[in-house]
Amino acid sequence: MINIKEINAKNSKSCYELDLKSIKHWNQNQWKNELEKDYVTAIGIYLNNSILGVCVFHKIYDEAEIRYLSVHPSYKRRGLGKKLIYKIFKECKNENIKRIFLEVSIKNKQALSFYDYLGFKTICIRKKYYKDGSDALLKEKKC
Ligand SMILES: CC(C)(COP(=O)(O)OP(=O)(O)OC[C@H]1O[C@@H](n2cnc3c(N)ncnc32)[C@H](O)[C@@H]1OP(=O)(O)O)[C@@H](O)C(=O)NCCC(=O)NCCS
Repeated sequence: MINIKEINAKNSKSCYELDLKSIKHWNQNQWKNELEKDYVTAIGIYLNNSILGVCVFHKIYDEAEIRYLSVHPSYKRRGLGKKLIYKIFKECKNENIKRIFLEVSIKNKQALSFYDYLGFKTICIRKKYYKDGSDALLKEKKC
C-alpha cells in the first residue's frame, strides 16, 4: 500500500540509499545535516516499508524551494513523483506559501517534462551553472 509521510533525520540512511540509486546528490552526512535543519521539510513516499521517493523542501516566510526530488528508478512514471509534489502543493497552500521555486539542469529532460506537466515556469537561466558546463533553469510555480 502506498503511503506518504513526513520524514526526518532518523530516515537519512534510507534517503541516502535511495539517492545512491538515483542522482547521488548528497552523501549520508549531508542527508543527515539537511534533514536536521529546522526550516527543512521532507516527505517520503512508501510502498509497504520501502521508501520509493523523497522530496526535500525549504520553507522561508511565504516562499518554498524544492531542494531535492527523486523517485526510485524502477518506479518512475507511475505517478509517484506527482503524488509527492501534490502533497507539497497542499501543504504550501495550507501554510499560505505564495511561490515555489526549484532549480533544474537544462539537460535533465525527464525532470523538465515533469515540471512542465506540473505548471512550473522558467523565470531565469543560470548559464554554465553546473560542473559539466550545463545551464540551470530557475523555475517557479505560484500557489
Ligand atoms: C523527475 C521525477 C521525480 C519524476 O517522477 P515520476 O514518478 O517518474 O513522474 P510521474 O510518473 O509522477 O509523472 C508525471 C508526469 O510528468 C511527466 N513525465 C515524468 N517523467 C517523464 C519522462 N521521463 N518523459 C516525459 N515526461 C515525463 C509526464 O507528463 C507524466 O505524466 P504521464 O506519465 O501521465 O505522461 C523522476 O523522473 C526522477 O526521480 N528523476 C531523477 C531525479 C531527478 O532528476 N530529479 C529532479 C532534479 S531537479
